[in-house]
Amino acid sequence: MAKIKTAFFCQNCGARYSKWMGQCVSCKQWNTIVEEIIQDSNKKIIGLSDLENKSIALKVQDIDLKDNSRIDLKDEEFNRVLGGGIVPGSIVLIGGEPGIGKSTLLLQISLGLKKKVLYVTGEESLQQIKRRADRVRSNYGNCMILNETNVETILHQISSINPDLLIVDSIQTLQTDLIESSPGSVSQIKESTSLFLKYSKKSNLPLILVGHITKDGGIAGPKVLEHMVDVVLYFEGDRNHIYRILRPKKNRFGSTSEIGIYEMLNSGLNQVSNPSTLLISNSDQQLSGNAISATIEGIRPIMIEIQALVSSAVYGTPQRSTTGYNAKRLNMILAVMEKKAGFKLGSKDVFLNVTGGIKIEDPAIDLSVVAAILSSNIDTPIPKGVCFAAEIGLSGELRNISKIDQRINEAEKLGFKYLITSCETKISLKPKKLKILQFKNIEALLKDLFKVQG
Ligand code: TYD
Ligand code: MG
Repeated sequence: MAKIKTAFFCQNCGARYSKWMGQCVSCKQWNTIVEEIIQDSNKKIIGLSDLENKSIALKVQDIDLKDNSRIDLKDEEFNRVLGGGIVPGSIVLIGGEPGIGKSTLLLQISLGLKKKVLYVTGEESLQQIKRRADRVRSNYGNCMILNETNVETILHQISSINPDLLIVDSIQTLQTDLIESSPGSVSQIKESTSLFLKYSKKSNLPLILVGHITKDGGIAGPKVLEHMVDVVLYFEGDRNHIYRILRPKKNRFGSTSEIGIYEMLNSGLNQVSNPSTLLISNSDQQLSGNAISATIEGIRPIMIEIQALVSSAVYGTPQRSTTGYNAKRLNMILAVMEKKAGFKLGSKDVFLNVTGGIKIEDPAIDLSVVAAILSSNIDTPIPKGVCFAAEIGLSGELRNISKIDQRINEAEKLGFKYLITSCETKISLKPKKLKILQFKNIEALLKDLFKVQG
């Protein structure tokens, strides 16, 4: 009997070693190296040999773009994130926490298309999928479901069904006969993906892969997985809230600054085309600790409400807790406020929430965080109709931000009266009703903020 060949792989970064080690040399993680049985190079998959690509070099002007006409997924948010639909022959990897709605989103897309879709699931039974399909759509489109985890069987099914779009849920459940290690291991994920990659590039079949994520938030499996695919998307949000954001991390065919926003309802995911009106409360009564920020997520302006609660610390060490905002950045802002604006926040607990549980990456949200904390600290509401957009620097200065015109337009459209921003931001736009107040630093803002007539 031939000797079984094995190698050691880091489950975090995919590095390969000939012997076991406690720490991975390349990613410095401990206890991530696992022995896996490796490929028997003599083994070939029957029926796949014709997929070997015989490449020839072409002049740039001779390259035909026709094949790249994108497929409309009939989901505006998804299309926009991809840069206008999915490109034939491309591989899209979508990651997200368990239960966030990845399978729901992809099933909805599959059922909504007129084109032939093959939805391969290694996680749920056909009955479970059918029940979900009944829940999210009234029609079944032209979608076929396959419950299978073996890559070779899936590829054979694909060649007999010949779908226009393939969905695989999830990459961690797949197993190829070429590798003997268990599903979800680094070499299985790498090899299975590369088989799909070969097939998809050869036959121009677009493929959407679901990927589980690790506790650090990255897609589980080798880092090289993200390099192999064309598009990497993250489906994020707080499971206790209804909003979900589809955010691109990598896109070979478009920008990574577009985001898609959905809300999870009883009948599945619903596209949110004007998020601003949903994310700010419409109550007439102004509450202390609330401030509205004119943010830009991707290239879309979103008005979003920040809530802060400042209270006396009960225990020796004050607590700081945030949802949707970077905790380190909150500490930095508190330090700046303490040093520059004379706030004694060291003995206070500070809790911060971004409404809807949405994670905001735009630095212009800083000023509204400062305003919300100030407002809660002195228990005085911020005047109605005021919104904020500026980054805070380490010396308490309000810093320049990008895309101010879009923020102004959105604030004006939603009936805001004042937009507070930095002196450094050059504004060429002359809004009709909205007044723009520019401040140099947080001390100056503090003097005038609560005098603004709402
Ligand atoms: P799912 O798509 O299974 O998540 P993932 O594939 O990312 O693990 O989503 C499951 C969650 O979505 C589940 O907790 C219930 C919720 N959900 C709804 O609220 N409404 C619906 O119509 C559906 C189908 C799911
Ligand atoms: Mg799922």
